[in-house]
Amino acid sequence: MQKLLIKNIHTLHQVRENITTPIRGEAMKEVPVLHNAWLAIEDGIIVDYGNMEEFPGISDWKNLEVIDAENKNVFPCFVDAHTHLVFAGNREQEFVWRLQGMSYQEIAQRGGGILNSAQKLRETAEVELFELAQQRIRLLIKMGTGAIEIKSGYGLNTEAELKMLRIIKKLKEHFHIPIKSTFLGAHAIPSEYKNNKEKYIEIICNDMLPKIADEQLADFIDVFCEDGYFTAEETEYIIEKGIHYGLKGKIHAEQLSHSGGIEIGVKTKCISVDHLEYATDKDIQLLKNSTTIPVILPGAAYFLNLPPAPARQMIDNDLPLAIASDFNPGSSPSANMPMMMSLACVMNRLTPYEAYNAATINAAFAMDTPNVGWIGIGNFANFFITDKSVTPVTFAYHFAHPLIEQVFIMGKSIS
Ligand code: NIG
Ligand code: FE
Repeated sequence: MQKLLIKNIHTLHQVRENITTPIRGEAMKEVPVLHNAWLAIEDGIIVDYGNMEEFPGISDWKNLEVIDAENKNVFPCFVDAHTHLVFAGNREQEFVWRLQGMSYQEIAQRGGGILNSAQKLRETAEVELFELAQQRIRLLIKMGTGAIEIKSGYGLNTEAELKMLRIIKKLKEHFHIPIKSTFLGAHAIPSEYKNNKEKYIEIICNDMLPKIADEQLADFIDVFCEDGYFTAEETEYIIEKGIHYGLKGKIHAEQLSHSGGIEIGVKTKCISVDHLEYATDKDIQLLKNSTTIPVILPGAAYFLNLPPAPARQMIDNDLPLAIASDFNPGSSPSANMPMMMSLACVMNRLTPYEAYNAATINAAFAMDTPNVGWIGIGNFANFFITDKSVTPVTFAYHFAHPLIEQVFIMGKSIS
C-alpha cells in the first residue's frame, strides 16, 4: 500500500461529508474549508483529514511519503463534464471568418463547422488522434482538471464514430483520472445524408448504437438539438434508443435558438442538459421538478459571442448548476476551467463561490463521478497546491493566471 500525508496545509478547500446530490441554490454560495489542515491518502484515495492541532501522529511509517505543504493551500481538481477533445487539426480559419462577420451557422452551411472537423478526423489515423488527445489531457491536468467527459461526434459514420470511442476507451485505460465517454453520433448530419436525415438517424440507432453497446464503448448518449441539426422529436427518439442500450442521456440544448432540448432532457431523465443560452423561465421550472443538471459552457458563449445563459436565474431558482469547458476546435478552443469560472462570473453574474462549486462538485455529478471534485473520505486524491493567498475568488479574479503550483492525481505528483 502507498501512503501519502500532506501536512501544514494553510487552507484545505471544498471539504464535505456524506454528499450524495449536487449543491443547489443558496448552498452554492459557500465553499467549506479547513484551516491548518492535514490530508491522508492511501493508494490514490483520500482516507482521512483533520486539523494539525489534533493530528493523531504516525503509527506506521512503512511506504509513507510525507509532504510539508509549507502553509500553502490545497484544492480538489476541477471537473470538466463536457468536452470534444478528440479532434484533428484546428479551425483557426473559421475563427477569422467569424471575426469578419460570418455566423457559426453560415460557416456550417459552407461545409465548415462540425463537418469540417469530421472530414479532418476521418482522414487522420487512430494513433495520431490518440497522441493528440493524450497531449491535450496532459495539458488539461496541468491546468488543474482531474476528471473529464469526452464526446464522439466528429466521425459521423459508423467506422469513424467507433474509432473515436475506441480512442476514448484507450484514454480511460491510459490516464489515472476518471474519464467518461459520450456517444454523439447525432452531432450533425453528414454530407452523404444531407437530403436523407432519417437514414442517418436509422444508422445511429440501428447500426452504431448496437455496436457501441456490444463493445461497451460509451457511458452516455448525446444529441445536438438545434435548428438545422436534430429536432426535439428526433432528439427524444435518439436519446430513448441510447437509454434502451444502457446509456444515460445528455443533450446540447438551446444553444443557438430555443429548440426544446431541455424539455426532452427532463422528459427522458437525462443526467444533464448543456449550453442553455436560450433557456426560458418555463425551462427553469421544468428543471426544478427534475434530476437533470443544467450545465453552462461559457467558453462557447464567449467565443461565439452568444447571449449568456440565464444561469443566475437558475441558481436563484434553487437549481444545481454546473460549468464545463466544451473544449472543441470550433466553438471553445480552451479547456481552462478557471477561465470558464471567470467568464461565468462576468457574463452570467455568478459569484466566484457559485462558479467554483459549479466547476467542481456539481460538475462531478453532471458526469456521474461523484467521488471527485471535493475533499471527502473515499474520494479520488486528485488535487492541487497553490499559494496561501489563493481562494475560490482568485481563479475568477486573476483570470488566466497560472495559479496552480503542483497537481496530484491519485495521490501522485504530476510534473
Ligand atoms: O458544443 N454545439 C455543438 N457542438 C459543439 C461545437 C462543435 C464544433 O463546432 O465543432 C459545441 O459547441
Ligand atoms: Fe459541446
